[in-house]
Amino acid sequence: MTGFDLSALLAERGGERYELHARHLNHQLPRMLHTLGFDRVYERAEGAYFWDADGQEYLDMLAGFGVMGLGRHHPVVRQALHDVLDASLADLTRFDCPPLPGLLAEKLLSHAPHLDRVFFGNSGTEAVETALKFARYATGRPRVLYCTHAFHGLTTGALSVNGEDGFRDGFAPLLPDTAVEMGDLAALERELKRGDVAGFVVEPIQGKGVHPTPPGFLRAAQELLHRHKALLIADEVQTGLGRTGDFFAYQHEDGVEPDLVCVAKALSGGYVPVGATLGKDWIFKKVYSSMDRVLVHSASFGSNAQAMAAGLAVLSVMEDEQLVAHARHLGDLLRSRLAALIGDYELLHDVRGRGLMIGIEFGRPTSLGLRGRWTMLQAARKGLFAQMVVVPLLQRHHILTQVSGDHLEVIKLIPPLVITERDVDRFVEAFTAVMDEAHNGGGLMWDFGRTLVKQSLQTGRG
Ligand SMILES: Cc1ncc(COP(=O)(O)O)c(C=O)c1O
Repeated sequence: MTGFDLSALLAERGGERYELHARHLNHQLPRMLHTLGFDRVYERAEGAYFWDADGQEYLDMLAGFGVMGLGRHHPVVRQALHDVLDASLADLTRFDCPPLPGLLAEKLLSHAPHLDRVFFGNSGTEAVETALKFARYATGRPRVLYCTHAFHGLTTGALSVNGEDGFRDGFAPLLPDTAVEMGDLAALERELKRGDVAGFVVEPIQGKGVHPTPPGFLRAAQELLHRHKALLIADEVQTGLGRTGDFFAYQHEDGVEPDLVCVAKALSGGYVPVGATLGKDWIFKKVYSSMDRVLVHSASFGSNAQAMAAGLAVLSVMEDEQLVAHARHLGDLLRSRLAALIGDYELLHDVRGRGLMIGIEFGRPTSLGLRGRWTMLQAARKGLFAQMVVVPLLQRHHILTQVSGDHLEVIKLIPPLVITERDVDRFVEAFTAVMDEAHNGGGLMWDFGRTLVKQSLQTGRG
C-alpha cells in the first residue's frame, strides 16, 4: 500500500481488531467480550441501529454510554462536519476569537437562562474537573461534597468525587472530598457547617442504578449550599440534552438554579469529543480576574471547530425534531409498559427513571425453585442475574443494553432519543421473552449464569 488509504487499511487489517486490542490496548476488553459472547464484528450503523458482518440488525439501547443522543450518523450533524472541514477554517490559532464557540455557548445558555458563561473542554470528566476547580477558586475553599455511588468521570479530580471504592482504590491520595448519602440534607448541612466546602456535585439522576434525586432534594440542597456560601454543581453529562424529558434534568424541579452545570456526551452527536461547563458570571469573573490569568484554565483542543459545529447541529436537530418532548413521551411509554410486567415476573422488582433513562431492577424471587438459583448467583457475585438478562437480549434478540454498574442487579436503558414506538415494542417483546425464559426453567439461561459464576471466580483469583 502506498500513501494513506483508510478504506484499504480497514479492508486489509480490520479482521485483526480483537487481536490488536488484546495485544496493544486494554487486554481485558476483548477477554470480557469473548466471555459474554459479545465479540461481534459490527460494520455499519445508522440512527438507533447497527449491523454486523452478516447483515444482522441490532437495536442500540446504550447509545455509546449516552453519547449517541441523536443516534449514529444523523445527516444534519454529518453535513455540518463535512461543511466545517470543507471550509478550511483557521481553527485553533489560539490568538483570535472564532465565531462557533460563541454561537454554541449562546445556544446552550438559552437552555439555562440563569447562567452566563461556558468553558469548552473535551470530555465529561474534564467538564467536572473544570467545575471543581472553578468552585474551589471562586469560594476560596478546598472541599467538595458528592453523593455515595456517584460517578463523575475518572481523571483524578473527578475520581475524588466518585462514590465507589472499586474506582478509587489504589489511586489515593485524592482531593479532600466527602461523600453524603443522596437525599440526606442533615448530613449535607453538617458538612457545610465546617465552613470549608466549595460545593456539592450531584447527578440529578444518578447513573449507577438509575436513582433520581428525591423530590425537593435539589432545591433544598441549593438553599443550604447558598446559605453556607457554597455552590451547587449539577453533573448533566449523562442526563443532559433532553435525555430525561427536560433539556436539563435539574429543570424537572422548580426553582433549581445550579451555579455550575457540566455537559458532554451527546453534545457533539457522538462524533467529536466535547465537554462544556456552564456557570454564573461571577464565578468566571473570579477565575479569569485579570488579563494575566487569561489561560489559567484552558485546553489545547477546547472549542475546536469540529466539536462546536457538531454541537450547533445537534441543538438545531433537537429543536427541529422536538427531541426533548419525544424523549419524555417515549420514555413514559417504555417505562409504563415495563412497569406493567412487574406483577407477572417475581424476579422483576422495579422500573424507574425519567424520559429515556430507565433502570430495570431485579430482586429475590419468592418461589422456592427460583430462590435456590438466585441465591447461588448472589453468593458468587451480585449483578450476575442482570448480566444473564443482558446476554440473551444481545445474543438472541439483537438488542444492546448494559448492567448499570458493578454488583448491581439493574439494567440501564439509555437509547438514542430518536427511537420509535416500534423500537419500544421490540424491546418489550424481547424483554418479556427473556423474563419468560428466566422464570419458566430456562435451562440455557441459568446454565450461562453458572458459566458466569465460574468465570467470576477465576477472575477473582487471577
Ligand atoms: C454523570 C457523568 N459524569 C461524568 C462522566 C464522565 O464523562 P467522560 O466519560 O466523557 O469523561 C460520565 C460518564 O459516564 C457521567 O455519566
